[in-house]
Amino acid sequence: DSDSLSRLRQAIRDVPDFPSPGILFKDITPVLADPDLLRLTIETMAATVTDQKIDKIVGIDARGFIFGAMLAAHLGCGFVPARKKGKLPWRTRGVDYALEYGTASLEMHEDAILPGENILLADDLLATGGTAAAALQLITTAEANLIGSVFFIELAFLNGREKISSYGPAHAIITF
Ligand code: PRP
Repeated sequence: DSDSLSRLRQAIRDVPDFPSPGILFKDITPVLADPDLLRLTIETMAATVTDQKIDKIVGIDARGFIFGAMLAAHLGCGFVPARKKGKLPWRTRGVDYALEYGTASLEMHEDAILPGENILLADDLLATGGTAAAALQLITTAEANLIGSVFFIELAFLNGREKISSYGPAHAIITF
């Protein structure tokens, strides 16, 4: 309900000038540390996909692992990490994407997703959308059946949603 969602929102801590001057960082660790808020978060994220069978959730390095893996256990499906370049031990496929300064790369194991599997993307934060778009592109390359994506927080003023709108429905639990 709206009361518990506002408790969730209030638990997210604003940290000014992190990781660099002018950035207002949304710190989710107080939510993770509270058993009731943690359960509420995962149940609310799970409720966005109740009527669909999901085979695997892809979570993005690093905070997306926390939400994605908990959500996978809650829904009874598998979990796949999309990792930053050079971290995965087996054969990988990767996608480069632009950051504010420079580029980054996300990788998934080649055999992590089978063609036709129902895949949901999960991450802690949708900001500019560059990271999510790269992960969604990787999932599409694997010929998966993309269900959509779910984020704990969306920073709506950064318009990240536009960058991923062609990849199916995107849900966010808390919007700033
Ligand atoms: C953060 C966040 C998202 C991404 C969102 O990850 O967890 O993955 O940025 O930003 P975007 O929408 O502008 O692409 P970060 O790269 O800070 O990695 P971390 O989780 O390892 O700290």
